[in-house]
Amino acid sequence: MTSSDVLILPSLLACDFTRIAEEVERVEAAGADALHVDVMDGHFVPNLSIGPPVVSCVHKVAKVPLDVHLMIDEPVRYAKDYVKAGAHWLTFHAEAPEVLGDLPGAVAALRAAGAPQVGVSIKPGTAPEVLAPILADVDLVLVMSVEPGFGGQSFMPEVLGKLPALRALGFQGRLEMDGGLAAGTIPACAAMGCDMIVAGSAIFGSDDFAGTISRFRAMAQAALAGQPLP
Ligand code: DX5
Ligand code: ZN
Repeated sequence: MTSSDVLILPSLLACDFTRIAEEVERVEAAGADALHVDVMDGHFVPNLSIGPPVVSCVHKVAKVPLDVHLMIDEPVRYAKDYVKAGAHWLTFHAEAPEVLGDLPGAVAALRAAGAPQVGVSIKPGTAPEVLAPILADVDLVLVMSVEPGFGGQSFMPEVLGKLPALRALGFQGRLEMDGGLAAGTIPACAAMGCDMIVAGSAIFGSDDFAGTISRFRAMAQAALAGQPLP
């Protein structure tokens, strides 16, 4: 895997939670590069999902890295718990009340907590420019292409321009998108520079995980290749 490879990340939010371990094995066997794990607290978003004990269980059975997306009010407070639970990428939201006004402090705190890779995410209504003070210090930016909180929503094409805007601001790390990604939307994302593709319902809702993942990878690689590198 080189830094320019496209990564395909099934979002476990769409898996069958009565048999998470089997679902993890199935998507890994089908070619998933990493697993996207959605953490929701019922405050930052109007939904609840899983916390550190379940993330830790997923980590025990997973062979690929965990990409933990914290949709919670207090990402700094809980960072250590998610690092201990096995997060490889640990991503917080720039809009989280705890970090508002001190994004550099939040990045430093996640690194101090031991996160191997630190990411920051923005909701559809947040301008990429708010990330300017930390773009040199984060490993990935996750651009939400739906309002965070639920799987199965429709992609919002108006967020696509944020990807080149982040490059224009000097960001050189990974660009991830999450929400409504499927065959009809992945090429446009990759053409704008997205190299981490999260897909929940489009993968877990398909009856051929391997075919779906390899099709997504091929279309993303092709579209990304037409893209000037930063
Ligand atoms: C939404 C989550 C997503 C969700 C994506 O808040 O962050 O990761 O699982 O689901 P799909 O791919 O179905 O839009
Ligand atoms: Zn997510």
